[in-house]
Amino acid sequence: MGEQKIMETTEAQIAVHWQEEGYFNPSSKFIGQANLTDPEIFERFSLDNFPDCFTEYAEMLTWYKYWDEVLDTSDAPCWKWFKGGEINASYNCIDRHLKENKNKTAIHFVPELEEERIEHITYQELYVRVNEFAALLRDFAGLKRGDRVTIHMPMSTELPITMLACARLGVIHSVVFGGFSASACADRIVDSNSRVLITMDAYYRSGKLLNHKINADEAVAIAAKAGQVVDKVLVWQRYPGKYSSETPMVDGRDCFVNDVVKNYYGTRIEPEKMLSEEPLFLMYTSGTTGKPKGAQHSTGGYLSYVTAMSKYIQDIHPTDVYWCMADIGWITGHSFIVYGPLALCASTVIYEGVPTYPDAGRSWRIAQELDVNIFHTAPTAIRALRKIGPDEPAKYKYHFKHMTTVGEPIEPEVWKWYQSEVGKGEAVIVDTWWQTETGGFLCSTVPAINPMKPGSAGPGVPGIHPIILDDNGDEITQPGIAGNICIRNPWPGIMQTVWGDRQRFVDTYYARYCKNPESKDWRDWPYVAGDAATRSGDGYYRILGRIDDVINVSGHRLGTKEIESAALMVKEVAEAAVVPVAHEIKGKEPDLYIALKPGVEPTDEIAKKISDAVCDQIGKIAKPRKVWLVPDMPKTRSGKIMRRVLGAISNKGDVGNVMTLANPEVVETIKKMVDR
Ligand code: PRX
Repeated sequence: MGEQKIMETTEAQIAVHWQEEGYFNPSSKFIGQANLTDPEIFERFSLDNFPDCFTEYAEMLTWYKYWDEVLDTSDAPCWKWFKGGEINASYNCIDRHLKENKNKTAIHFVPELEEERIEHITYQELYVRVNEFAALLRDFAGLKRGDRVTIHMPMSTELPITMLACARLGVIHSVVFGGFSASACADRIVDSNSRVLITMDAYYRSGKLLNHKINADEAVAIAAKAGQVVDKVLVWQRYPGKYSSETPMVDGRDCFVNDVVKNYYGTRIEPEKMLSEEPLFLMYTSGTTGKPKGAQHSTGGYLSYVTAMSKYIQDIHPTDVYWCMADIGWITGHSFIVYGPLALCASTVIYEGVPTYPDAGRSWRIAQELDVNIFHTAPTAIRALRKIGPDEPAKYKYHFKHMTTVGEPIEPEVWKWYQSEVGKGEAVIVDTWWQTETGGFLCSTVPAINPMKPGSAGPGVPGIHPIILDDNGDEITQPGIAGNICIRNPWPGIMQTVWGDRQRFVDTYYARYCKNPESKDWRDWPYVAGDAATRSGDGYYRILGRIDDVINVSGHRLGTKEIESAALMVKEVAEAAVVPVAHEIKGKEPDLYIALKPGVEPTDEIAKKISDAVCDQIGKIAKPRKVWLVPDMPKTRSGKIMRRVLGAISNKGDVGNVMTLANPEVVETIKKMVDR
């Protein structure tokens, strides 16, 4: 009985154990050049000024026609931003820069092989190539405004060219991460009813030229079984004019873009005047259950929001060289490699391969060669770079003014290495919390205004008003008590709906706290992010992870990140992942998986040291059932640790299909270790 009561502990009673860190301030040099230094921005974007405040973001763009209404709530919670406005994303990312900047580099493409030199594509060249490819899409592939097209391509110059050509025509693109399997690609083809698939023959990954075209054939076959016919497969070539895949081309269906595009040399395509609320793209995201959801993003609202975030939070100036290491196949790449930086006329870096190929210095050599001054990556990459080359950054002469971390909570230890080693103590850091669904940032410090605090994302960005609610829908105002973080107001970057499934959109993101489903008042529709978070006295939010990642030990809900962070304070530890194991009495117990730094011998002493560190930092309550010293963590191709797989191993469950992992073989090794 006692235990049952404990299991029912509400969010409001959750204690958070991760210590508060001190502040770091941006340098006066950074502040002196920053785009946004006026603290009154927060006043301008107060709820009193909602929704009109957001016109400040929309005015960063060039519109064919201004909007009739800033926010139309008549179909709540499917918001329409800048309704009636007319705009084209391709025009805003390319054409409008030509007059002043046609000769400036838009894209630096860095091939993975170091002997292949970096390519620099000017805005003029981007303009020409996007127009010619748009002509091909329209006249050869028969695509028109409102059609969907699936793009399964690696990191390449041709990927943004493809996206921007779609945007020029008003064709809705759905980019599938290049590392995803054929069957994941097929699911997305079917859901979006794409009859055209755009792919590339091959790309480099860890020094190997991978056959990518084969995925297209499989995806088309799987989609056909599910009733979706793909009648055209457009194949870009990694080496133009040469086919780098062994998979045969299918007559009548497949064609090489580099051949067909010759027919369109010199063609210019007038950009479609899109309504602001017409969709720009779909980005599929997986939840814990069910099939992937196609997050539908708008043209005017989305582009306004990512442009403003790029300018104010990323501090991008047209003179900057900006490198975001994410893959364009994720939302981070859409918003912060392609649309945001190009809308601001910056030079954006696209790197084909693995950040640590062929060695731990590669990323820093790229930064040095291109004189990158803004750098954007995720904790998982930061940990990997720290693991294999903690002293590498100091060997290279690059200087970042600004760095971003995104995608998961960053442990203060890792944050500090990022700050002192990668940023050389000079760069400002923003820890940006957001989601595929949100288009752009939700919480972050404004770099020249708010001090940084390791481990905390920061306050809501200008225009975002977060609130932490308990299970009953009451606001949690006490610092350090965790609950469900929600956003009180709509904003222009929010997805419009789940493609083809409005009900799922409402159920997933709004139903929980909406008291009146008929309401047309935005105040009745708090957006439920699905993350647990706390707010401290200074108004900074700390994201604890997905609600379902929280481990409940004897009624104490422990953020998995807090435990992992404690383990990472032991200097031999490179990576830590904690998973809940069912326990009769405590409900759940943490099982701790550890990868040690290279050269460190796994011993019982080290395991004990790690276990002690967790007890010291958090308390005995968090004592791991067992510390497993494993050779490597099972990881996705995008580098996220697969806690689900570790959880299955710990609980003697089914690990499921692990073949899509970056390192499937490690699963068996770990299983043997745990099962013994
Ligand atoms: O749990 C949060 C975590 O990543 C989730 C969103 O993942 P995705 O849709 O793939 O978008 C990734 C790019 C934004 C969130 O629900 N998350 C994201 N950023 C942070 C974070 N957790 C903590 N701190 C962050 N900065």
